[in-house]
Amino acid sequence: MKIGSDEHKKLFCRDFMASHCRFDPAGLAWPDLNAPELERLRGIPFWQEVLYTERRAGAIVAAYAETITDPLVREAVMLQGFEEARHAELLRLMIRRYGVVAEERIPDPPKGDLLRAFADFGYGECLDAFLGFGVFKIARQAGFLPEAMFEIFEKLIHEETRHIVFFINWMAWQQVAHGRGASWLRGATAAHYYARAVGRLLGIVSRGRGANDGKDFSATQASVFLDGFTLRGFVEECCAEHARRMAGFDPDLLQPHLLPRLAGVALAGLRIGIRRGAEREKNA
Ligand SMILES: [Fe+2]
Ligand SMILES: [Fe+2]
Repeated sequence: MKIGSDEHKKLFCRDFMASHCRFDPAGLAWPDLNAPELERLRGIPFWQEVLYTERRAGAIVAAYAETITDPLVREAVMLQGFEEARHAELLRLMIRRYGVVAEERIPDPPKGDLLRAFADFGYGECLDAFLGFGVFKIARQAGFLPEAMFEIFEKLIHEETRHIVFFINWMAWQQVAHGRGASWLRGATAAHYYARAVGRLLGIVSRGRGANDGKDFSATQASVFLDGFTLRGFVEECCAEHARRMAGFDPDLLQPHLLPRLAGVALAGLRIGIRRGAEREKNA
């Protein structure tokens, strides 16, 4: 199958729409939490940012969908917009039910180049999902919250995984349509967008640190899963979870691979550094 062909378009759109799951956030099996679990959930410092991101996502995706002329692609992107809005609804419900302190900020209506906004958002999702896979796995393994809560978040993470696979294929398809389908050009474009996404993420992290001084979370509630945390272990989990989740998709579809490849290079570097450090210690 040729990337950018009509066949490719039908595959990535239909695969995405066929895997849509119908559910109502209010009807999910929300568990009762005991006092330490409630404290841990409320102590997570980024719920406000996540809710805002999901609201903004729904608005960008819905606005971009309106501009798409291809009916099949438009239908698929509209469905993604629906799922993003449902993520916001799910988070809003969770915040209310468990008394999480998070102010709901209303995003500005998207304007300007909507295709660029959608692409910026899509690469941002690829980055967030890659890191989120590792965080989710480590927190779940550590029993940070009851398993019933992770089952609910799993729905959200699975949908984000479908979104990034859809996005990477849509991106390649529309690049081919605009005569920019050469793989080096697609790689360069992805690197450009990822650099912007990393910049935005670093901005959010530093603003978050400024807001709560980084103490509330890391020193208390998160100790459950920060004990024994290493950068190498975290990156390994991100890569392993990325590979596991991607294995569930049609092998003819493109998958986001730039971040896992870069992470693989970083891991190889970390391993060499650790080995050299150990050798130096042995020889000293
Ligand atoms: Fe989302
Ligand atoms: Fe998404």
